[in-house]
Amino acid sequence: MTLRSVSALSKVLKPVLCDRLAQTQSLKAYGATNHTFHRRQTSTYTPPPARYGGRHTVTLIPGDGIGPELANHVRELFRFCCVPVDFEVANVDSSLTSEDDINNAIMAIRRNGVALKGNMETNHNLPPSYKSRNNLLRTTLDLYANVMHCQSLPGVKTRHRNIDILIVRENTEGEYSSLEHESVPGVVECLKIITRVKSLRIADFAFQMARENGRRRITAVHKANIMKLGDGLFLECCKEVASGYPDIAFDSIIVDNATMQLVSRPQQFDMMVMPNLYGNVVSNVCAGLVGGPGLVPGANHGDDYALFETGTRNTGRSIANRNSANPTAMLLASCLLLDHLKLHAYASMIRSAVLATLSETRLHTADLGGQGSTSDVVKSIRNSIQSTGPLTQSI
Ligand code: NAI
Repeated sequence: MTLRSVSALSKVLKPVLCDRLAQTQSLKAYGATNHTFHRRQTSTYTPPPARYGGRHTVTLIPGDGIGPELANHVRELFRFCCVPVDFEVANVDSSLTSEDDINNAIMAIRRNGVALKGNMETNHNLPPSYKSRNNLLRTTLDLYANVMHCQSLPGVKTRHRNIDILIVRENTEGEYSSLEHESVPGVVECLKIITRVKSLRIADFAFQMARENGRRRITAVHKANIMKLGDGLFLECCKEVASGYPDIAFDSIIVDNATMQLVSRPQQFDMMVMPNLYGNVVSNVCAGLVGGPGLVPGANHGDDYALFETGTRNTGRSIANRNSANPTAMLLASCLLLDHLKLHAYASMIRSAVLATLSETRLHTADLGGQGSTSDVVKSIRNSIQSTGPLTQSI
């Protein structure tokens, strides 16, 4: 039985066989290259098939805040570049308690295999039964690996230079399990779930990604000195997987020290892997280090589906419909989507134009201290693409 089938089976049989499956999983030789556990990352991975004249259909969830306007810019740019992608729009009204919208969106992603998404508001004043729509998407589709590449960008002035960190975050359990109760008034228990199966899975994803991307060192972030069982298990799983990848160095760091080290000397980190909430905090810190939420894209991978969005998952509600949001993160997320569909030539054409425009500091949007509008930036990207002429690479 392959690990992939073990993983599929575990969905059906959990929690009854959970322990036994966990033991089966531990029999795997981590670091072996001939398994299909993470077919998304391997060179043999095949994207969802293109249909209807070689075109791909991608689910587009515009989201809230600046999401819809940025989604429109992506659509227009794709049309301008003749990218063979059609979007199937799935609107989700995050103010409704009914889950019909999000269920329709999930069904659309199941159909298309891949999605681009703006962020959805989660009003924390809504009752506990209301689940974050963003979280529902990730858990229902088992998009277990969130990946964010934080890199110093051309033309963006920041306190630190030469940052290049790949962050891998477990996306489906930990503190985001939505298991809370107040059985005694004034005493709330909020459960953090760490499992061996999911910790091994995310660690193996990270090590495999490190190998495929020429990364040399992975640092696991944890708080095992306090959460000895939960984070202790996560750390143990990372160590176990690391032993199968002797070509990649492994170390660990306590989360509080990690954030201090990041803001002091971020260049010391190559790649990081961590549970869910630390992943959110560290991702946001790193995005801030390289210039802010408008710059960094993010990807969510599972065995069957992939979803691309901005790296930090805020909605930018206060700047919505003002034509002032930085479109870079969303446009770079659309490039990750194109790479995922193996439309690499289109991805690199758009990415190069986005980065070229970013180095034109007079066009910077307000978040980077400039006076440019969102549409000024997108117009410049179009001009840059036009000036490079038609695609010369084979597609
Ligand atoms: P926010 O949406 O207010 O954004 C934080 C700051 O970044 C604001 O000043 C905003 O103007 C700026 N910003 C964001 N994107 C930008 C862009 N593209 N260009 C220029 N400036 C940009 O952040 P907040 O309050 O954390 O989140 C708002 C909503 O997003 C909440 O409903 C929250 O539940 C949801 N959310 C936020 C997450 C996060 O990581 N911050 C994660 C998941 C959901």
